[in-house]
Amino acid sequence: MSPLTENNKSDASSALKSATDDLHRQVEESIDWRANLGDLRAYQQFLTKICYFISPADRIIEEYFGVLESWVASRRTAAWAQSDLGELTAKYIGAAHIESCDDQPPADELYRWVKGPADAAGILYVLEGSTMGSLFLCNLACTNFDSSADAPVKFLSAYGKGTARRWQETKLWLDRFLTTEDEVATAVSAARRMFQIYGGQLSSRA
Ligand code: HEM
Repeated sequence: MSPLTENNKSDASSALKSATDDLHRQVEESIDWRANLGDLRAYQQFLTKICYFISPADRIIEEYFGVLESWVASRRTAAWAQSDLGELTAKYIGAAHIESCDDQPPADELYRWVKGPADAAGILYVLEGSTMGSLFLCNLACTNFDSSADAPVKFLSAYGKGTARRWQETKLWLDRFLTTEDEVATAVSAARRMFQIYGGQLSSRA
C-alpha cells in the first residue's frame, strides 16, 4: 500500500471519474428517463424506487462519515424523495394509492459487499455526483408534468444553484480522504457497483 505522492493529490476524484465514465454513459442512455418521469404516476413510482435502494446507501454513508463530517447531515438523501412522495401522493394521487418505502423490505442486501470507509466513499461519489444530472432530470420532469406548477421536486432539485459548488467540495473531500492506491481502487470498485445498482433498480419494474 503506497501513499499517493503530493503531485497526485487529485487522483482520487479523477480516477473515480475516468473509471466510471462508461457506467455513467450507460445510466444516462439506457434508463428510459422520459418513461420514469413521464407523468405524475410514473414519477411516484420513480420516487418509490429511489427511496427503496438509496435509503440503505444513505445509512452506510451516515455510519462511516456522519460523526466525523458535519456536512454529511445536509446531504441530499432518500428522505428528500420520501418527502416528495408524501406530498405528491397527498396532493395529486390520493391516499388510496400511497406507496411508501416502508411498504418494501429495506434493500440492505444490495450493499452486503460494503466492508469499509473506502467502499462508502465510492457510494458517496456516485450519489453526490448524481446531483449534477438531477438538475437536468428536474427540468425534464417539470416539462412533462401537466400540473407541474407545484409538483414536489425537492430530491431532483438537489442543492439548487449550490449543486455545482457542493460537487466541487465533495470531490476535494474525496481527494483528501482517499489517500492510498488501495483506497482509490476500492472506492472505484464500489462506485462501479453503485452505478450498477442504480441502473438495475431504475430499469426494473416497480
Ligand atoms: C440523464 C441523466 C443524467 C444526466 C444528463 C447527467 C449529466 C451529468 C453532468 C452534466 C455531469 C457533470 C459532468 C462534469 O461536471 O464534468 C454529471 C456528473 C455526474 N453524474 Fe450524471 N447525469 C445523469 C444521470 C446520472 C445518474 C443516474 C447518476 C448516478 C447513478 C449520475 C452520476 C454522476 C456522477 C457520479 C457524476 C460526477 C462525474 C465526475 O466525476 O465529475 N448521473 N452528470
